[in-house]
Amino acid sequence: MQRGMARCFVTRQLPFPALDRLRAVHDVEVWTERLPPSYDELSRSAALAEGLLTLLTDRVDAALIERSVDLRAISNYAVGYDNIDLEAAAARGIPVGNTPDVLTDATADLTWALLMAAARKLPEAAADVRDGDWLTWEPAMYLGASVFGATLGIVGFGRIGRAVAHRASGFDMTVLHTGSESLQTLLEEADFVSLHCPLTPETYHLIDDAALSRMKPTAILVNTARGPIVDHDALRRALIAGEIAGAALDVTDPEPLPPDDPLLSAPNLIVVPHIGSATSAARERMADLAVDNLLAGLEGRPMPHQVDAPR
Ligand code: DGY
Repeated sequence: MQRGMARCFVTRQLPFPALDRLRAVHDVEVWTERLPPSYDELSRSAALAEGLLTLLTDRVDAALIERSVDLRAISNYAVGYDNIDLEAAAARGIPVGNTPDVLTDATADLTWALLMAAARKLPEAAADVRDGDWLTWEPAMYLGASVFGATLGIVGFGRIGRAVAHRASGFDMTVLHTGSESLQTLLEEADFVSLHCPLTPETYHLIDDAALSRMKPTAILVNTARGPIVDHDALRRALIAGEIAGAALDVTDPEPLPPDDPLLSAPNLIVVPHIGSATSAARERMADLAVDNLLAGLEGRPMPHQVDAPR
């Protein structure tokens, strides 16, 4: 190993050239399995690493950080970083990086795809055509909700929430957001409620029985943020009871949901597999940022996108 080379563990193969820049200057081990390393496997590899490039599926907790005595930089290939114990990293002086901005539009686009699909019942309509169950044009089949002119409630008005709001102007929507409205008002008045807040102890199960009961019976819930923000048992009950008209989730708790998870039998529910940032362009730019962050952290420079521990 050349002088200055750091041992890096990358928890998944990234199908982009960014890792070559890391390999050019450091000693890089990549986890090449399709499934993530287990917590124990991650701990063992992290214990030998100076740099870690992780995914949102990797739990980097205080115990793991404590055991990783040489660790000097953690770079998360995601804008969210709820999988990393920031306080434990900060206590050791280990910088943590994330990948904001480059996935904002991709995630806002997917939010809209889910909103429209749920409003207009696209999954069931498409399935009927494929299964030969569409028999004729009927006046009262597949009746959905109007999007144009409706009220959109945005919970979490950061980069992605704002990008979702921006797209709403083309649909002439009234936009309510938690930057100016109370959550209570937003839930009561919105036709579509879209979640864009980070997962924190304060937002865990923010959408629970009480929140769902405030929503209109015609309203649709969209979650492209983090699964545990929604209490799944409460959501299942609300969908079955018709307390809300539908839900579309890009994120669940856990991920993936087991096929026999009770939530999946609820009516008017769309679930997709955490694909908010899944465009080639966004994922490639995330790889660039994640590598930029790790390179900077290992050199002792501020990371281009460094996240601070909560105070
Ligand atoms: C993130 O970046 O936090 C998304 O959930 C996945 O890209």
